[in-house]
Amino acid sequence: MGYKSMWESGDPRIAADLRPDTPHPARMYDYYLGGKDNFPADRAAAEKALAANPEFRTTARANRGFLTRAVRCVAGLGVDQFLDVGTGIPTAGNTHQIAQAVDPAARVVYVDNDPIVLSHARALMAGSGPGRTTVLRADLREPAAVLEAVRAEGLLDFSRPVGLVLAAVLHFLRDEDEPYRAVATLLAALPPGSHLVLSHGTADFIPAAVRDRVTGVYDKATAPLVGRSREQVREFFDGLELLEPGVVTVPLWRPEGEPAPGAERVSMYGAVARKI
Ligand SMILES: C[S@@+](CC[C@H](N)C(=O)[O-])C[C@H]1O[C@@H](n2cnc3c(N)ncnc32)[C@H](O)[C@@H]1O
Repeated sequence: MGYKSMWESGDPRIAADLRPDTPHPARMYDYYLGGKDNFPADRAAAEKALAANPEFRTTARANRGFLTRAVRCVAGLGVDQFLDVGTGIPTAGNTHQIAQAVDPAARVVYVDNDPIVLSHARALMAGSGPGRTTVLRADLREPAAVLEAVRAEGLLDFSRPVGLVLAAVLHFLRDEDEPYRAVATLLAALPPGSHLVLSHGTADFIPAAVRDRVTGVYDKATAPLVGRSREQVREFFDGLELLEPGVVTVPLWRPEGEPAPGAERVSMYGAVARKI
């Protein structure tokens, strides 16, 4: 990527925060996608998850494809500002690049609670194009604090529609973290015409024994993995107008070609909806 991250720079504050010996979901996801921003503990945990469910890689890639098509769709509807919570380590086709390819002036605020994501994302944003992009550290489990940080930063205009992106992040919130309240709190701050882009892992298509092995791996990581059923994922969209085709496995959301065999059993649901 042609930049020196804070991690590589050896900044002791970042190093202390990184907890390289504990697997981080963002770095495991980076490994599934073939990235290099991960430590041995992340790779070992990711390999265990892959041994339990070899589909993880396909699912991660399918999710990135969904993110691209969904953000492009929302930007194509005229939404020119995005709040992306659970950014992930930058890889090919990040939200700001997708949105700014449609509208070069689009503004994107990224929010993540993982320091490695922040260091990489900040370095990447520094070289971004005419649209404005920024990255903040906050936790989705505290949605009011997310909104406060975003408002304080001042890049988004909350009187105009916003694309709220929650891609492959809500499955890191346990029920007691109140994921539905988090989504509702963020949406309540946005005006009608805003859109929600959401994807979420599921165990609907895998045997219970496989699910238990995978959750066992994430229980030792910095965040657990909580698969939810199609109906539970649909509930995140309560009160919104779902765009066609509704809640489907991610490769089946407006595919651009013939979906690969088994697309209807990929372990991630996704949908886009409009606030009315
Ligand atoms: C699997 S990655 C998804 C990245 C990207 N959104 C995508 O769909 O490709 C999940 C991201 O969510 C972040 N995350 C997990 N729990 C979070 C929380 N409670 N608050 C904010 N970010 C969180 C992780 O650090 C990671 O970067």
